[in-house]
Amino acid sequence: MRIVLVGPPGAGKGTQATRLADKLRVPHISTGDLFRANISQQTELGKLAKSYMDAGNLVPDEVTIAMAKDRMEQPDAENGFLLDGFPRNVSQAEALDELLKTEGIKLDAVLDLEVPEEEVVKRIAGRRICRNDSAHVFHVTYSPAKKEGVCDVCGGELYQRDDDSEDTVRTRLEVYHTQTEPIIDYYKSQGLVVTISSLGPVGEVTQRALEALKREDDGK
Ligand code: AP5
Ligand code: MG
Repeated sequence: MRIVLVGPPGAGKGTQATRLADKLRVPHISTGDLFRANISQQTELGKLAKSYMDAGNLVPDEVTIAMAKDRMEQPDAENGFLLDGFPRNVSQAEALDELLKTEGIKLDAVLDLEVPEEEVVKRIAGRRICRNDSAHVFHVTYSPAKKEGVCDVCGGELYQRDDDSEDTVRTRLEVYHTQTEPIIDYYKSQGLVVTISSLGPVGEVTQRALEALKREDDGK
């Protein structure tokens, strides 16, 4: 399956993508995680991305699209992928369509995670991620690590993301509404959007997503 996950910051895209990727046996491709890996490895791309990310703005399309394309062309993504955080504006969505067209493949669904803004604020304020891999995500109240400050998956140190400050979150939400939400209409016109609520326990949201994706698949 080839799926795009969309939703505001803190909606649970990363949390659900890890679980869905495991169940659907496709790689989880997060442009945010790829940028954070570049930042920790201090690459040129990381240095460039950091200045935009810390301000809550989008990293320029040219570098983002090239990075996503490169990742999607890896052998593990040959039979499917779950995109988390890409595309993030209409021009990225158009670039993805072009790329898929040249490969003769199509998206199966765009999973839109809905969550009220006050819940987003609570989720982001308590989020902690792992220094070794930002896909290892915890929450001080909702999904606490077994040992405080230590990643359950790999033993890495947990920390709060630099862009999870109150000011930056406000900008990220604004950017989401103005630049990312329009891709939902873009994909609605292709009949691809499946919307679910991201409220409730993590496992229930995963179940809801799997059922919605199955209905979408059966209907085609
Ligand atoms: P990115 O890393 O993609 O951040 P984001 O979209 O703002 O989304 P988040 O990662 O904040 O939230 P999430 O939905 O993954 O939630 P999570 O599962 O962690 O992007 C960061 C930056 O990189 C961007 O601002 C931009 O600068 C740049 N960038 C990335 N992609 C780009 C692109 N394509 N183009 C240009 N720039 C790009 O969950 C949040 C918290 O809630 C966690 O603590 C979790 O444990 C908890 N939680 C999850 N589900 C539940 C639940 N059901 N109940 C209770 N708690 C829950
Ligand atoms: Mg994420």
